[in-house]
Amino acid sequence: MHCVQSITPDILFLGASDRRQALFENVFPIPRGISYNSYLVKDEKTVLLDTADQAVGTRFLENLAYGLQERSLDYVVVNHMEPDHAATLLEVLNTYPQSQVVGNAKTIAMIGQFFDCDISGRTVTVKEGDTLNTGRHTFTFLMAPMVHWPEVMVTYDAADKVLFSADAFGTFGALSGNIFADEVNFERDWLDDARRYYANIVGKYGVQVQTLLKKAAGLDIACLCPLHGPVWRENIGWFVEKYQTWSTYAPENKTAAIFCGSVYGHTENAAEIVANRLAEKGVKGIRLYDVSHTDVSELVSEAFRCSHLVLASATYNGGIFTPMENFLLDLKSHNFQNRTVAVIDNGTWAATAGKQMREIVGAMKNMTVLENSVSLKSSVKETQRAELETLADTLAADILA
Ligand code: FEO
Repeated sequence: MHCVQSITPDILFLGASDRRQALFENVFPIPRGISYNSYLVKDEKTVLLDTADQAVGTRFLENLAYGLQERSLDYVVVNHMEPDHAATLLEVLNTYPQSQVVGNAKTIAMIGQFFDCDISGRTVTVKEGDTLNTGRHTFTFLMAPMVHWPEVMVTYDAADKVLFSADAFGTFGALSGNIFADEVNFERDWLDDARRYYANIVGKYGVQVQTLLKKAAGLDIACLCPLHGPVWRENIGWFVEKYQTWSTYAPENKTAAIFCGSVYGHTENAAEIVANRLAEKGVKGIRLYDVSHTDVSELVSEAFRCSHLVLASATYNGGIFTPMENFLLDLKSHNFQNRTVAVIDNGTWAATAGKQMREIVGAMKNMTVLENSVSLKSSVKETQRAELETLADTLAADILA
């Protein structure tokens, strides 16, 4: 049965949430679920902006039928062809055979890649700045390549000042009736998931997000409609500022995130000593993560949030402890940069993890790795407590500067 809400008198929210799927993109845990948003504009012509994932396909198609109220569907704007938004596109085109697809040249090519269908004669190909008038509404199409796929575009509706922003400004998390960000406590309940979504899915493409933010800055936006998570109609600048921070790889918080990869707890002991010393020196908001027990998507997100990182790893198979190596390579692949890092390693007979962690971090842009790293031999001894505290003191001085 349909579940439709109004955003403005002639814009409907047709999205639906999935609380069953364990892993988004078969990789990111989503214990709070996720929403797949779709929007219908009812003007002299009707316009659907993106479809939905197959997981919520039945509900979405019911919502679309209800939203149209016996009217025909004239246009389907495809801002993003990734299947979490486009898997039901072919079903929509078959159900509404008079509808036309609006997309850029890359979008149209991708439709042919994903679906075995002939949509020739049913496409409206747009490029940067092109417009589509449907009566009261005029839609302007702005290209947003690599945010985070090459065909991505966003659509601006000048009539209601709405930006349909594709994945930008999206977040993990199912919607619970309240579809607007101002109806929930976003900073308390959603920001961590929004950051985890950004860092892991869009994080690599900071330069391209910056280009999109510059385009968006030239628009009068009263409402921001992303493809995942709440719709924004208040305090939009606050969320845009978060994107400004994340896309420039600037930290949100001046504090330390300590990541430890420990086989028997000795390396963790060293990490705890550093954490305690940082606290004694006045650093607040310290977080310590065991990389074996925290999903790497959360580790990446926390690295994006914090200004200073401590990497403490056991040596394993002559290299970095596997979960720590996986985390660091993930950070590198997300173009992570601009942080200060302290390194601690451990090895009972040949500690090599520190050198190798330095090499991976050193290959990232604008990273400062503290010189005085600490190398443990099996367990922490009193002499090494002093080394760890010296390391923590250097870090604390930099955090509190
Ligand atoms: Fe939500 Fe890139 O798909």
